[in-house]
Amino acid sequence: MDTLTLTRPDDWHLHLRDGEALRAVVAATARQFARAIVMPNLKPPVTTVAQATAYRDRILAALRETAGDEPACSGFEPLMTLYLTDRTPPDEVRRARESGVVHAVKLYPAGATTNSDAGVTSMAAVRATLEAMQAVDLPLLIHGEVVDPGVDVFDREKVFIDTVLESLRRDFPALRIVFEHITTREAAQWVAAAPAATTGATITAHHLLYERNALFKGGIRPHWYCLPVLKRETHRRALLDAATSGDPRFFLGTDSAPHARHLKEMACGCAGCYTAPHAIELYAAAFDSVGRLDRLEGFASHHGPDFYRLSRNAQRVTVRRETWTVPEALPFGAGSIVPLAAGEPLGWRLAS
Ligand code: DOR
Ligand code: ZN
Repeated sequence: MDTLTLTRPDDWHLHLRDGEALRAVVAATARQFARAIVMPNLKPPVTTVAQATAYRDRILAALRETAGDEPACSGFEPLMTLYLTDRTPPDEVRRARESGVVHAVKLYPAGATTNSDAGVTSMAAVRATLEAMQAVDLPLLIHGEVVDPGVDVFDREKVFIDTVLESLRRDFPALRIVFEHITTREAAQWVAAAPAATTGATITAHHLLYERNALFKGGIRPHWYCLPVLKRETHRRALLDAATSGDPRFFLGTDSAPHARHLKEMACGCAGCYTAPHAIELYAAAFDSVGRLDRLEGFASHHGPDFYRLSRNAQRVTVRRETWTVPEALPFGAGSIVPLAAGEPLGWRLAS
């Protein structure tokens, strides 16, 4: 198969940042995707419906400013999220549900990743808020890693399943949960065994394409560093099996997380891979690697809207087998940003 035409995909997990960073990246996503679930981990975090609405306006303004009337970007719809804190009032959840702007609430265990300091310190602290979410049927998106420094960084997702997720699923059986950016066989198995109506998971392109050795190939490679960190090959294979299985619980979420080049290439570099500009091409390469391009459309374009109870997109896009080279760097405000797999060949290309 040399061309693949599919329903225009959506990105169910995306970081767009704010200000000049936002202006640098938003068109890249709008060129590829019709909609995106936008993460709320700004500084300060997006914790109220009013803030989410204002952020949505800034996203659309930045897109107008940088993409003008570029046809590929028209109609892009940001789907907003709230950042869950120990103090999120249940009333804010009810306002979110009524807003039509906010589509989910994101749980970061405090300290788990970039801008997560205001996150949740214990599940007991957010019980009433989760009950409200369950009652109004607003999905909970979970960064599933424990933060205990005594737990090995490669085990944090697995330990989260055993110590947090199992009991959360039991205590809130009707709460819709998305286990975000899963990285382990254990997570894929847990999701596949959970009730489909209330459980989903996003999988990034980088976790489908790379295992942890990519971080160290020829020296330390900060542009492959993200959280949850890449795992060993057995886990990558399990994720690829899950993504290409046709199981509707699994859907596309890039976790494209832009950081300026100098903040990645430093002694203590930021976590996050920037994949927005070539996201669907990376996923096509991953699915093609196991001869399962026929399953890409379900994963990229059907399972996500079905879970979120939104309509599937009407437009279609085409990806073509064509080898091109990922740019070494892209403009990012006054500086630059290095996309994932910079300078490497990629075998698929989105037709304009
Ligand atoms: O690698 C990551 N980068 N993982 C996250 O959970 C957050 C993200 C970011 O915001 O940079
Ligand atoms: Zn993320």
